[in-house]
Amino acid sequence: ANQLLFKNPNEPPVVFHLFPIIGSTITYGMDPPRFFVENRNKFGNVFTFVLLGKKTTVFVGPDGNEFILNAKQKDVNAEEIYGVLTTPVFGKDVVYDCPNSKLMEQKRLIKATLTTEAFRQYVPIIEAECYSYFKKNPDFKPDAGVVDIAKKMAQLTIFTASHCLQGKIVRDQFDESLADLYHDLDMGFTPINFMLPWAPLPQNRRRDQARETVAKIYRDTMAARRRSDEKDAQDIMHHLMYATYKNGQPVPEHEIAHIMIALLMAGQHSSSATSTWIMLRLASRPDIVEELYQEQLRVVGAPDTAFAYEHLARLTLHANVIKETLRQHAPIHSIMRKVKQPMHIPGTKFTVPPSHTLMAAPGVSGNDAEFFPEPSEWDPHRWEPESPLAPRLPIKTGDDEEKVDYGYGLISKGASSPYLPFGAGRHRCIGEQFAYLQLQVITACMVRLFKIRTVDGSTRKVPGTDYSSLFSKALEPAEIYWEKREKAA
Ligand code: HEM
Repeated sequence: ANQLLFKNPNEPPVVFHLFPIIGSTITYGMDPPRFFVENRNKFGNVFTFVLLGKKTTVFVGPDGNEFILNAKQKDVNAEEIYGVLTTPVFGKDVVYDCPNSKLMEQKRLIKATLTTEAFRQYVPIIEAECYSYFKKNPDFKPDAGVVDIAKKMAQLTIFTASHCLQGKIVRDQFDESLADLYHDLDMGFTPINFMLPWAPLPQNRRRDQARETVAKIYRDTMAARRRSDEKDAQDIMHHLMYATYKNGQPVPEHEIAHIMIALLMAGQHSSSATSTWIMLRLASRPDIVEELYQEQLRVVGAPDTAFAYEHLARLTLHANVIKETLRQHAPIHSIMRKVKQPMHIPGTKFTVPPSHTLMAAPGVSGNDAEFFPEPSEWDPHRWEPESPLAPRLPIKTGDDEEKVDYGYGLISKGASSPYLPFGAGRHRCIGEQFAYLQLQVITACMVRLFKIRTVDGSTRKVPGTDYSSLFSKALEPAEIYWEKREKAA
């Protein structure tokens, strides 16, 4: 309490709260973006709040993105924050249960498998999964209907991602035991586990059992694959089975198994939350759905032509639908780091002390009128340079940017962009290209097969956001109305 009364003028201002441990946990947890904007309006871009008893300093805006996401390794640490949550779900010796240098090597090995050659194989795999899903699922049997699209996208994403990244043998097991096991793993990934990671909750016992069982399934699969190896396989499991760390050591099988769990979980929530928002946004804009359909006819040809990797770069409106949806509905609203050394914030009198957690929230600048005119307007066309809603800052992409290598390949050096749905710096996402590919093909298949709209026919309206799962998901039931383009004869 003393610290509240006698504020340290060299530390960022503290958000008022009544109870010491709870602090602002509830107001933050109910709606993080709103909490960030309200306090930014009150205090400016830097402020501290109490989250589960921990002083958490938020720094929003492009400078904050740069300060936190590009901070030096001696100053900040991710594994001390995320490890308690992820190690019991992923397993030992991977991601945040190992030194950062090892994570960088693991990211390098994974990234090396996500080649153009692999992507060429993934497009028909995802297309076939979509068609088989929409044909076989009883909810899509009639000519028209209403579905909870969040549930459907969660299932479809796990089928497409497991098939591409872990191979057909693993994918086939998702029709049986693996789906339930992953559900149990998911139950270990909730805010309660952040607070009480080792609590003897029944769901934690199920989580631990599920992790052991899934890891064993992967080890058995690897053993079978080593006996009968498919030469042209392009999934990540296959590549890691024959990869070596820099010291020449092969990647141990338990690490491959744990990486498989980590990647599927990392990709699953973010991608299925995003495809759900895409479908909800499209249902609220049937005019854009028709534009997408026309774009497909132009780029791909008649509706019976297979999608190919080469089409994706030319399906620009499809890509911009994803880009715009990630601007408004970035699945990861808060990125945290533990402060290891006092960190002075340039241009201010503030120093963040080592006891604090730093929190970046790139979604705040992504929805700020300073950078994105009419930010609450969902308009994929704003990403076309001549649009009146085009971003106000030159958002650098591609080749003209300075690059840096943290150990997993060259990435953009700057993190000061207002638009960073995939993060930046050492911990940046390596799944971006795969996520785009998957989202583009799923969106394209959906548009090719169905006309969609909201259930009540209203436009420009989507459900609210549920922040209770650590990801920004659509509140369920997230229903849409669909109608087949080609009706049963
Ligand atoms: C890291 C977003 C899909 C694997 C990240 C980070 C963000 C992000 C914001 C940075 C986290 C931090 O700095 O703490 C997204 C979004 C996705 C997506 C929005 C989809 C729309 C995927 C997929 C994969 C993946 C499909 C796997 C194939 C990873 C990995 C990291 C990461 C391995 C690195 C974690 C680290 O270095 O600490 N992602 N991601 N992501 N993501 Fe993704």
